[in-house]
Amino acid sequence: MCGIIGFCGYLNAKEELIKGLAELEYRGYDSAGIACFTDRGIEVVKSVGKVAGLENKLPPQMESGCGIGHTRWATHGGVSEVNAHPHRCGNVTLIHNGIIENYHELAKELEKTGRTPLSQTDTEVAVMLLDSLYKGDALEALRGTVERLEGAYAFCIMFADRKDEIYCIRKGSPLVCCSSEEGCAVASDMVALLRYSKEYFVLPEHQVAKVTKNAILVTDLEGMEVSPVMLSINWDMSAAQKNGFKHYMLKEIHEQPESIRRTLAPRMKKGEYILPDFSEDGIEDELFLNVGRIVITACGTAMHAGMMGRILLERLLRIPVSVEIASEFRYGEPILNEKSLVILVSQSGETADTLAALRLAKEKGAKTLSVVNVKGSSIARESDYVLYTHAGPEIAVASTKAYTAQLTAFYLLTFRFAYAVGKLTAKEVSGYMQGLNEVGELMEKMLEQKDRMKELSKRLTPAQDLFFIGRSLDYALSCEGSIKLKEITYIHSEAYAAGELKHGTLSLVTGGVPVIALATQSDVFSKMISNVKEVRARGAMVILITKEGNEAVVENGICDEHLVIPASHDVFAPFTAAVILQLLAYYTSSYRGLDVDQPRNLAKSVTVE
Ligand code: AGP
Repeated sequence: MCGIIGFCGYLNAKEELIKGLAELEYRGYDSAGIACFTDRGIEVVKSVGKVAGLENKLPPQMESGCGIGHTRWATHGGVSEVNAHPHRCGNVTLIHNGIIENYHELAKELEKTGRTPLSQTDTEVAVMLLDSLYKGDALEALRGTVERLEGAYAFCIMFADRKDEIYCIRKGSPLVCCSSEEGCAVASDMVALLRYSKEYFVLPEHQVAKVTKNAILVTDLEGMEVSPVMLSINWDMSAAQKNGFKHYMLKEIHEQPESIRRTLAPRMKKGEYILPDFSEDGIEDELFLNVGRIVITACGTAMHAGMMGRILLERLLRIPVSVEIASEFRYGEPILNEKSLVILVSQSGETADTLAALRLAKEKGAKTLSVVNVKGSSIARESDYVLYTHAGPEIAVASTKAYTAQLTAFYLLTFRFAYAVGKLTAKEVSGYMQGLNEVGELMEKMLEQKDRMKELSKRLTPAQDLFFIGRSLDYALSCEGSIKLKEITYIHSEAYAAGELKHGTLSLVTGGVPVIALATQSDVFSKMISNVKEVRARGAMVILITKEGNEAVVENGICDEHLVIPASHDVFAPFTAAVILQLLAYYTSSYRGLDVDQPRNLAKSVTVE
């Protein structure tokens, strides 16, 4: 949450910051601001609303080669110019991503020094504290400040008397850094640095980066130089642009076949049989032996991918698997030991609750494996094992390609695990792997039908409430369909295990209420059809999704609309059905005239709890 950027170099800083902020805007977009060193000192400009509004407000004479910028997702204090970053106190101007938990108590203390906050933010306390400790030695002031701060932070700081220098420090919140011939830059994520370099490093926690025109010097808080680990990304600028699509979400929906292929490719080792191979991931079969319990924990869409993973793993391994919402797990009392495997799932790899769940799992002695999209992110770095998804940058707040890449990772994991513990033979795994290999093609076929989903979305556009129903894998997918729809269309929706509906919720299904019914799983198909009849009998407007081959079973009048996914083994149906649900959400949001990529109140990477 909140996007932060700093640039120091040979280009026009104001322009570089605006470009970077536009790229980081998906992290928060209620207000934005920049601060630059100019001949007149540090100049700050802020504005409520999106980055485009800030850009229009910038004075032409703001000439600078060094500055910092911030796009905000409000946590403490409403959306207003005074609460927007950068914040300034005396000698210090800074931007912050994270939450200072003890800000209240610190504010009281600082008031005694004559410093009174102007805003309602937690951040202003950090700038006041830093200013109170700054006597000309940046490191000394930073040492004193971070000693007192509780919570999470990534700061970019400018001291008025240290022209063209930016100091950065972080704990919990992400910050990546790169240097190039044009200058040095830091940002919340690589999307905003790609125009400078593909090589970068993650600023280690509690270490300080001093950013100048020609170099980034990293030291510990005592001033000892350290060499951070360099990383590189394997995608380019075009991966982070719309490339002719109206929205990032639509582009990312279309990228799914490719992102799945990229996730599969390094793990597809073909011999006599096709077996998933994690040798490049450093995951040995030994990890799978002696596992007595698996816990999957994540948030939102990533958690829904985990729900799918649970069914697959439990079905094939016969080991108990549970899925926990990370924000509940971290404050619960999970029963874990060295025979437990905890799987964390996260696109960003920075989600605060998932990161805390990981730390708790490690503390309890469990083995940890994360399924993460962003290379070098906190969750990836702190987990014992990482299975990267290779979805590329996902910009739309609504997750699509990351979700299906996470499913791919779960399928690979399940098949290898089952093989390692002798629950599936090489031949059986190979059969499944062939199916998995064909998923990309099936999704392409589904995407060819997008006009049908576009047309159908017109029927959903006026809805106030909507239900998704399904059983087994279809129920797990219903949960994802529902979150996708509500986050971008603002239509209230719920996902229900189809058999559960009659235990209360059926009372809400009245004439014309849309029900999207997923019936792609053969073992529960007839049960699902009975549930569809139940809602139809109450006047629901039913959109039924079945698999090719089941058309004959769908009697006249059972549904208002019938969508058919291509034939495949049942286990792979969620991939193609997901495309339908994503497109329905996308087009419905478009018809409602909403901001598809940046829905209200939300942000892409939730780095606060
Ligand atoms: C999905 O559409 C959401 N925007 C959201 O639920 C997201 O999946 C969740 O915040 C988890 O994010 P992560 O994968 O980066 O951890």
